[in-house]
Amino acid sequence: MKGIILAGGSGTRLHPITLAVSKQLLPVGDKPMIYYPLAVLMLTGIKDILIITTPADLPQYRDLLGDGSHLGLRITYAEQDRPRGIAEALVIGADHIGSDSVALALGDNIFHGNQFSDTLAENAADIHGCVLFGYSVQDPERYGVGVTDENGRLLSIEEKPTHPRSNRAITGLYFYDNDVVDIAKNTQPSARGELEITDVNRVYVERGRARLVELGRGFAWLDTGTPESLLQAGQYVRTLEERQGVRIACIEEIALRMGFIDADSCYRLGERLSNSGYGKYVMAIAAEFAQNPATTAEGAEEIRTASR
Ligand code: DAU
Repeated sequence: MKGIILAGGSGTRLHPITLAVSKQLLPVGDKPMIYYPLAVLMLTGIKDILIITTPADLPQYRDLLGDGSHLGLRITYAEQDRPRGIAEALVIGADHIGSDSVALALGDNIFHGNQFSDTLAENAADIHGCVLFGYSVQDPERYGVGVTDENGRLLSIEEKPTHPRSNRAITGLYFYDNDVVDIAKNTQPSARGELEITDVNRVYVERGRARLVELGRGFAWLDTGTPESLLQAGQYVRTLEERQGVRIACIEEIALRMGFIDADSCYRLGERLSNSGYGKYVMAIAAEFAQNPATTAEGAEEIRTASR
């Protein structure tokens, strides 16, 4: 499976913060926002990831993540010169996807919850159709909204409906089989002139091949669209991290625990950041892992859970 992170757009609801800085590079807790969707793709087991962003912002993403080899990944980049819709990521990324399945993650969606990496891995295996992730919210009219049968098969999907037929929001993480490339290429722009991801998903719904996985009550799906929600997301992350002594979406730790890099490499990544608490954490995790991989691996589920 290939991965795509869409990190473009203009973040106008966060102006003036985003006048000169890409929204998905803003801090959430002690790390850039894009670490969170990157962590999700890594926990799914994906190593080959395309980051799509604006021409102006692309150099900064490259400075931050390079070619990904330090994390055992292959990260490449592509431009979206203006926001022509989320589904355009699948057209821009067509060569990257090739004949594979794909996970598309919005760069501003933050997920955190128990057993999430198991959920991801289970649903990424052997995809026929699409798998979407649903979350109950009190303001569904702000999102894509789905209605399912009792088996989780999606019966309908609407984008920001005035009268939502359920409170189940469709989150910004989408798993597709390879048909999605043709479906996205054949999607017509909406009245706003955008290739809507909900129109792509509706094709799968009409074919009876769209499944919704419920993210339950104990799960957090956080918004970062406004100054208030951005601050709250950061506070949520820091509260859990300080209470539990682990880090959420620490990509170096995830690379280590997923077996993408070894403990020595992980330690060196931490050393480069050793003036910060984040860097010290990476060094400590790597040292602990090197000394006692078995014990640490037992505790890994807890830490992985926190990394979701
Ligand atoms: O967050 C989940 C929601 O994301 C879904 O429930 C909706 O179905 C889906 O349409 C989308 O709704 P939003 O209103 O959040 O979409 P927005 O236009 O804000 O775009 C989401 C992110 O994707 C945002 O960080 C900017 C980026 N983006 C968006 C567009 C349209 C791009 O990079 N390029 C684009 O062309």
